[in-house]
Amino acid sequence: MLAIDVITIFPGMLNGFLAESMLKRAAQKGAVAFQTVNLRDFARGVHQTTDDRPYGGGPGMVMMPEPIFEAVEKVRREESRVILMTPQGRRFDQQAAQELSLARHLVFICGHYEGVDERVREALVTDEISIGDYVLTNGVVAAAVVIDAVVRLLPGVVGGEGATSQDSFSDGLLEFPQYTRPADFRGMKVPEVLLSGNHPEIARWRREQAEKRTQERRPDLLGR
Ligand code: ADE
Repeated sequence: MLAIDVITIFPGMLNGFLAESMLKRAAQKGAVAFQTVNLRDFARGVHQTTDDRPYGGGPGMVMMPEPIFEAVEKVRREESRVILMTPQGRRFDQQAAQELSLARHLVFICGHYEGVDERVREALVTDEISIGDYVLTNGVVAAAVVIDAVVRLLPGVVGGEGATSQDSFSDGLLEFPQYTRPADFRGMKVPEVLLSGNHPEIARWRREQAEKRTQERRPDLLGR
């Protein structure tokens, strides 16, 4: 079972997300156990401050090291991967999702404001992940994206055996076009081959379509 702890000052943003749909079912099935950790519980003073002005000046606020260290040290184990969500991290993709789905314990640190004190990176973090080249107000949104992509790969979470093996990206290609009933919708017909029952032909058609689609939309994937 994969354990996931998420450290954030906005636990409510994540709890709603975890309490619906596939992630909820994954937890009910015992494939994953989520815990949100409120960083404010580790803050000091009446104002429970978790951030402060940057040394050296400049705009914005920086998250203080002390509450983050204490929160991580409370949940961390020997085998934990401690992940900082940041636009400076390694770009997240399907391969990274697959790799993380094999871990036993993921601890997400969700940054916000201008960022986190560098000592968190130096002494605590094992992985830094970005979900794309844009800046969010809050790393908890980014952590939700990573959690969703990882949890759906856990055994028994999505559909039947192999249900995720035909995903876009899992074989380096975008997914082929899919159709369901009716076979003729407002004059738009499902390709004949899919109705043929000829499975080798269907497999060939799907492969061709996946390659064509990837060539048109994401030629960068073909070079990898
Ligand atoms: N926090 C803010 N922007 C982010 C991004 N693009 N990826 C991960 N965490 C972030």
